[in-house]
Amino acid sequence: MRAWRVHELGDPSKVMSFDEVEQPTPGPGQVLVKVRAAALNFPDVLMAMGMYQEKPPLPFTPGVELCGEVVGTGQRVIGSPAGGPGAFAEYVLMDEAAAFPAPEGLSDEKAASLYLTYQTGYVGLHRRAHLQAGEWLLVHAGAGGVGTAAIQLGKAAGAKVIATAGGPRKTEVCRELGADVVVDYTSEDFVPVVKEVTGGHGADVVYDPVGGDVFDKSTKCIAFEGRLVVVGFTSGRIPEAKANHLLVKNYSVVGLHWGLYRKHEPAIFGEVHEQLTRLVAEGSVDPLVGEVLPLDQAPAALARLASRDTVGKVVLVP
Ligand SMILES: NC(=O)c1ccc[n+]([C@@H]2O[C@H](COP(=O)([O-])OP(=O)(O)OC[C@H]3O[C@@H](n4cnc5c(N)ncnc54)[C@H](OP(=O)(O)O)[C@@H]3O)[C@@H](O)[C@H]2O)c1
Repeated sequence: MRAWRVHELGDPSKVMSFDEVEQPTPGPGQVLVKVRAAALNFPDVLMAMGMYQEKPPLPFTPGVELCGEVVGTGQRVIGSPAGGPGAFAEYVLMDEAAAFPAPEGLSDEKAASLYLTYQTGYVGLHRRAHLQAGEWLLVHAGAGGVGTAAIQLGKAAGAKVIATAGGPRKTEVCRELGADVVVDYTSEDFVPVVKEVTGGHGADVVYDPVGGDVFDKSTKCIAFEGRLVVVGFTSGRIPEAKANHLLVKNYSVVGLHWGLYRKHEPAIFGEVHEQLTRLVAEGSVDPLVGEVLPLDQAPAALARLASRDTVGKVVLVP
């Protein structure tokens, strides 16, 4: 079978080759899955560059979420490859217990996109931030993979959603996804907008995959007893929370690393999958797939993702 492999750390558009490799053999509790669609995530880029917390031994096949067909049963499943990345290939191994049924009615591309960012969003908003109906939710980078999921999940939870994004095309995407208020934060300061539209109350929950200045500014417009969820650092700068400022508004800075539940509470993935499947059936969740490319164009697809130019999810199909 063919699989993309990173042979040395660096720009993923340069350090990967599409290799002929042996088809993997399932171990105990594993199934062999024929990949039908693999969705890209920002961590794919960071992992290839050696800048992600997870550092698989070289050479490795990138790709952390997919929709595929279990060889032998034909069941359509979604999830992550067993034991690490590996989805940018024709076949993967998956742990049987973590291969979840793909919701009926979702295309392979959308089903592949329902896993990592939606699970992260659901755990972040509900379990970590305890988002309540009627609260104000501020989602940064709202047109990206993580952001589009958070807007839909916020609206599904009954929150009022303010989304920031870079440029008019992206703010339009946020609006189409149901955001009540949108701000192009590359041309307008979002702090006064949040204060104004919330009548001075501020954002009860901030969902931040950007970090840097966006995190710093969010502390200026977070509500009393607000929860600022730290999701990632696409800006390239890891911000610092000021302990004295937390006391000014009794707000919390909440860490979110979804993958850690694999070690601490693996049952959560199945529970969240059930909730997401319900939301898909109700029509309140519908993953936005911005681009679909053939698997042999993985380096170009990763370069597109890193360019900050994509909306929603970028998906590869073998
Ligand atoms: N904590 C977790 O468990 C978890 C799980 C999944 C992902 N993540 C993290 O969430 C973040 C987003 O991932 P994603 O897959 O949603 O990526 P994505 O779809 O590419 O979205 C990232 C967005 O970040 C914004 N951005 C701001 N400054 C940027 C810069 N200097 N360079 C590039 N983008 C910049 C861009 O939106 P604008 O142009 O609108 O600013 C971009 O679209 C990543 O840091 C990822 O590691 C964390």
